[in-house]
Amino acid sequence: MLSSSSSFYSVLLVLLLCLHSSDAAAAKIGQGYRLVSIEETPDGGIVGLLQVKQKNQIYGSDITNLQIYVKHETEDRLRVHITDADKQRWEIPYNLLPREQPPAMKLTISKSRKDGGGSLQVSDYSSNELIFSYTADPFSFMVKRKSNGDILFNSKSDKSDPFGEMVFKDQYIEISTKLPKDASLYGLGENTQPHGIKLYPNDPYTLYTTDVSAINLNTDLYGSHPVYMDLRNVGGQPNAHAVLLLNSNGMDVFYTGTSLTYKIIGGVLDFYFFAGPTPLAVVDQYTAFIGRPAPMPYWSLGFHQCRWGYHNLSVVEDVVANYQKAQIPLDVIWNDDDHMDGHKDFTLNPNNYPRPKLLAFLDKIHSMGMKYIVIIDPGIAVNSSYGVYQRAIANDVFIKYEGEPYLAQVWPGAVNFPDFLNPKTVQWWGDEIRRFHELVPVNGLWIDMNEASNFCSGLCKIPKGKQCPTGSGPGWVCCLDCKNITNTRWDDPPYKINASGTQVPIGFKTIATSAYHYNGVLEYDAHSLYGFSQSIATHQALQGLEGKRPFILSRSTFVGSGKYAAHWTGDNKGTWEDLKYSVSTMLNFGIFGVPMVGSDICGFYPAPTEELCNRWIEVGAFYPFSRDHANFYSPRQELYQWESVAESARNALGMRYKLLPHLYTLNFEAHSTGAPIARPLFFTFSNYTDCYGLSTQFLLGSSIMVSPVLEQGKTNVKALFPPGTWYNLFDMSQMIMSKEGKYVTLDAPLHVVNVHLYQNTILPIQQGGLISKEARKTPFTLIVTFPAAASDGQAKGNLFLDDDELPEMKLGNGYSTYVDFYATVSKGTVKVWSEVQEGKYALDQGLIVEKITVLGLDGSAQAATLEVNGNKVDDASKIQISAAEQKHLDEVEDGAHKQK
Ligand code: GLC
Repeated sequence: MLSSSSSFYSVLLVLLLCLHSSDAAAAKIGQGYRLVSIEETPDGGIVGLLQVKQKNQIYGSDITNLQIYVKHETEDRLRVHITDADKQRWEIPYNLLPREQPPAMKLTISKSRKDGGGSLQVSDYSSNELIFSYTADPFSFMVKRKSNGDILFNSKSDKSDPFGEMVFKDQYIEISTKLPKDASLYGLGENTQPHGIKLYPNDPYTLYTTDVSAINLNTDLYGSHPVYMDLRNVGGQPNAHAVLLLNSNGMDVFYTGTSLTYKIIGGVLDFYFFAGPTPLAVVDQYTAFIGRPAPMPYWSLGFHQCRWGYHNLSVVEDVVANYQKAQIPLDVIWNDDDHMDGHKDFTLNPNNYPRPKLLAFLDKIHSMGMKYIVIIDPGIAVNSSYGVYQRAIANDVFIKYEGEPYLAQVWPGAVNFPDFLNPKTVQWWGDEIRRFHELVPVNGLWIDMNEASNFCSGLCKIPKGKQCPTGSGPGWVCCLDCKNITNTRWDDPPYKINASGTQVPIGFKTIATSAYHYNGVLEYDAHSLYGFSQSIATHQALQGLEGKRPFILSRSTFVGSGKYAAHWTGDNKGTWEDLKYSVSTMLNFGIFGVPMVGSDICGFYPAPTEELCNRWIEVGAFYPFSRDHANFYSPRQELYQWESVAESARNALGMRYKLLPHLYTLNFEAHSTGAPIARPLFFTFSNYTDCYGLSTQFLLGSSIMVSPVLEQGKTNVKALFPPGTWYNLFDMSQMIMSKEGKYVTLDAPLHVVNVHLYQNTILPIQQGGLISKEARKTPFTLIVTFPAAASDGQAKGNLFLDDDELPEMKLGNGYSTYVDFYATVSKGTVKVWSEVQEGKYALDQGLIVEKITVLGLDGSAQAATLEVNGNKVDDASKIQISAAEQKHLDEVEDGAHKQK
């Protein structure tokens, strides 16, 4: 017979096991909190004291007193911050992600609230856009949209809900919100989502930075972005808002379709609500808070070729030469760790990459305008004769375990991990980058394995008399002498997030979670900030070098990473499924404020088929970040390796290179307003609910739609066309038009990718070329689109240009160019004009508009005359696009006044 206490533990065990099952969202853990005091703060917010109603021990004991602080930080941003009222808890460092500090106030139980009831002292705390309200006992809160009363967030639990009251323990926090059935949610990554961009009920969403390859579906991946956008169409009126839970601890988020539950293993509840109401307004508000996406150099929008396994410099030289021979555009050539000496950061292999030869090669490609990027992993080889390691030890820069640098294993064998939360580390890192740049003048850095990835787990020692292998293959197997750490509550927390999709311990193949950073910060708390903090340090280092605009590609990202780095979606597979998933992940990163994103074109491994590689470059040519990259063990897959792929590449990248000024303008818009470069269709067509879950097509900016083939053997594609008129961008004679929107089956033979341009647009394009440096000097054509058969219509577009070496990307520095283009058609006359805010760059570069193509005129406008800036133009010659001080284009030629 079981004793009463052991039966208690078995009941608890059964309960815990149940809680870990997939229906964990349904478990109700506690009775919640009661609001016992509330008052206004001097900064215009409100602060309240919450007391736990009844404690239990599931996942640890409840925290007795909580402080809630609520503030409308702007008209469209509301913050709700809940933490322990008596003790400082871990929060994302305020210097890493700058934001307001909640006021330090000590509340006591107010007399009127001792009974937990009574009228609210502060009810309906509102801004112009959002209303915060609460229920005192049990405590819950609600956020409403003021304009229509729509409830955006509501943590109140009742019998019909699958979720329970708010729970707040040291290592387990739970809170839920009800959601309307028809809400469309996007975000919560990084996650490969087989069901597309729209969150899918009961799919798991676990956020914890992890190096499991992107081929794993619905698991925690390289980045952590605890934010979702919620798009609703209430009574025909689309409204979008976003909810960010600013917390770096591991968490599971359960979405049932009618509710969403966060289960977090530490930190605080720090919610930010962004009112929108349009998707673009949401990302504007979101990136105004987390940091605007980094300005990208122009060349980084060109095509990139990379591969793991370019064994020596001649191979790299050969790749560049072959791209030229095949007449395929190429801007950037990359090295994975092959150039390194023994896989050690900041070194060169003297035999395979001898410095003098490498420098001569770089001189050559730099003079052509090409760029060179190499990889840097965070793990620093433990090797007493390695200068980087010696200086690291001298500066005491590593993450520690029991006072010693935490020992791990990555490509170079045994490594220590720099602690980028330590200001000394940031300085040392900057110095190493400076030294390396003197050795090899790279144009950007690729920071990889920064989740952080470790081939071992736990507490390790270098085995006596044994040398760890370096590199891939056997190098992947842990060769250190390690023991699991199970005796701390950080390594073995009471609630197990669904780490790696299998509930492995959270320290599995990463840094032990009981290791600690600067100032005693636990890896347990800061884990998901590793890649983010490395991006910041790397950005600072590159900026300090030559004052040029940095380019950084980071595998691991967090809220705010887009301010410093681009991202690729990690180790994908060369399969049709992965081609499809790449679209959703890319679109999610636009919402996360990391718009410079793409996937390994043709797949990282294993070998893609020729057909797949054809189709992949047709999609990848329109990724904001367009790079072919492959694994060490894959056969070569540069685009020229197959003649058919080369042809598709010339076609698709040919179009990309014509669109570069537009992509660059989108990059400027991303930097100014957070607008994603690649967007889901609902960003432009938020009235059109048919496109809400669409994950097989995407927009570049607001008006270019890419409808690629994503399936094997297909020579056509069924594409959704939102209402209006669309023109094929390759062949401007083809037009698709509908009042209500419709699916259209488009021809798509192997070398054809369908790209359409929407009505009412003025798209400035150039003539393209094989390298962006040359392509950007060519004359412009303005493509003006009106709705089909329009006798009246309007169109507009814009253009931003600058010197991409300038660290900032902005207007008002007297050197950029920014032009708004406008066009109207009315009574047979097409008028086109521009407003030049700044024009110096275009003037200095001698840039001109040589042609205007007008699409969509009806019969009555057949004989349309074209006026440019008030002058009739019949046969104008080539004209300057802008002059520094001028307000308008002087003249523009009607080179191809094309009629439809
Ligand atoms: C990681 C990266 C991959 C890279 C490899 C070797 O797997 O994700 O892109 O090629 O490491 O550095």
